Amino acid sequence: MVFSIHDLHQKYGPYVRVSPTQIAVADLPSVLAIHSQNDPYDKTEWYKRAASGVDTMAGFVEHHRYLQRRKALGTGFSNSNLKKLEPVVQRHITACFSKIKAELEATGISNVLSCFRLMTTDVIGELCYGINFGLVENGEFLQLNEFAKSLYGSFFILGARAQMPVMKGLEKALSFIPHPLVQWFLGCNRRIEEYGIKCLDDLQREIGDCKDSSGKPRPSIFTQILDNTNNQDAKYRIDKRALIDEAGAMLIVGSQTVALQATYTMWTLHKHKVIREKLRKELEGIDWDTSDEKLQGLPYMTAVLKEALRLYSPGQIGLARVIPQGGRQLGPYFFPAGTEVVTNTFTVHRNSEIFDEPLLFKPERWFNTTKEMESAMMAFGGISRICLGINLAMMELRILVATMFKMCPDLDLAESCTDESMEFENYLVLSPKGRKCEFKCSAGGT
Ligand code: HEM
Repeated sequence: MVFSIHDLHQKYGPYVRVSPTQIAVADLPSVLAIHSQNDPYDKTEWYKRAASGVDTMAGFVEHHRYLQRRKALGTGFSNSNLKKLEPVVQRHITACFSKIKAELEATGISNVLSCFRLMTTDVIGELCYGINFGLVENGEFLQLNEFAKSLYGSFFILGARAQMPVMKGLEKALSFIPHPLVQWFLGCNRRIEEYGIKCLDDLQREIGDCKDSSGKPRPSIFTQILDNTNNQDAKYRIDKRALIDEAGAMLIVGSQTVALQATYTMWTLHKHKVIREKLRKELEGIDWDTSDEKLQGLPYMTAVLKEALRLYSPGQIGLARVIPQGGRQLGPYFFPAGTEVVTNTFTVHRNSEIFDEPLLFKPERWFNTTKEMESAMMAFGGISRICLGINLAMMELRILVATMFKMCPDLDLAESCTDESMEFENYLVLSPKGRKCEFKCSAGGT
């Protein structure tokens, strides 16, 4: 859908009717109005379907419900909490590059997409539940534990439910088929939930024990939030049942997105060697320090990551919203209440009136920005429902790129990794058609 809507915009302009009730909008002032915080539009029912009927923030359609939940979850993603979580992120990224090195030594090839998927799931798993899933250490799908396999199964089911409204009925019909594989698939979400309940119970017990012994519980996104669940005076509270659902959702949205973005960033850096060398020089200037505080201050690193997000964010999908009561004027058209409007961020990011030579990877463009460029950057969604994990994702990406230069400085794209294999396909998020991204050691390298 993302690519066909993009083609339709190129052919027919910024307003295109894509179904009897849905209009695609690509003109920047209207896109910004649709995602404005001052006049928030609700999400469409599609999000409820994508959340599989589980009541999580990302699937909340009504803006007022979303605001309450966002406030309750916000403390987990605050900068002060993220600082406490940095050592966990550092540890998993280091383990990931050790794995990549070991694969290169053993076979000469490493599929970084697969390594990053395991690593980002380890990161978000430990940040949500306080335990190390150990996916990077344990390896490929067939060697994974039951929980990790269920997680991937669940991601598949979520995608299918979002794309096919008939999926719910199909699942009901499938539940009568006694085949073990079918039953295993259908049980994925339940297994993740059971595991989540156990982990959060353990973490909550630990918080209580630490209070008694004046020790410190494991840092996690939920440590403070869990503590608030029992505190009647806390300003924003969320009950434990809802927290378990949110944790399950974060395992999915917070892992695949970062893994894909990291993969495309590495790929583009190895396609553009001059840019890669400039970034290497900047990192040499801070003596290869991979602490996030240092990395945040690097201008070239910031520009590279921003440009990689503009062209390769996996979240460049159609963000669908509903015109509020009273209808709204968008550009030359008046839309009645209830009309669905979809903003294709893939198209906005490639608008040549906003971004000069939009298809080129040019980090330097971010040294001379316009107001339009900044507001058209929607890699993490529109302002009114901006990604909850934006700061965590950026921290992971910065540390990952710096660690790559430090631990694997001499990589090259493998022959299998071509422009064609890295073309996007859209399965809930954008990912490479080739389903992998292989690297090798550069001639004379590590
Ligand atoms: C590079 C990595 C990431 C990208 C590109 C990304 C992108 C996005 C986008 C485009 C949206 C808006 C969707 C919409 O409005 O339809 C979104 C929302 C969201 N993201 Fe992310 N995301 C990333 C990482 C993360 C991480 C690490 C987490 C959490 C741990 C996370 C949690 C969420 C949540 C909970 C929402 C829903 C917000 C809401 O309902 O208002 N994301 N993300």
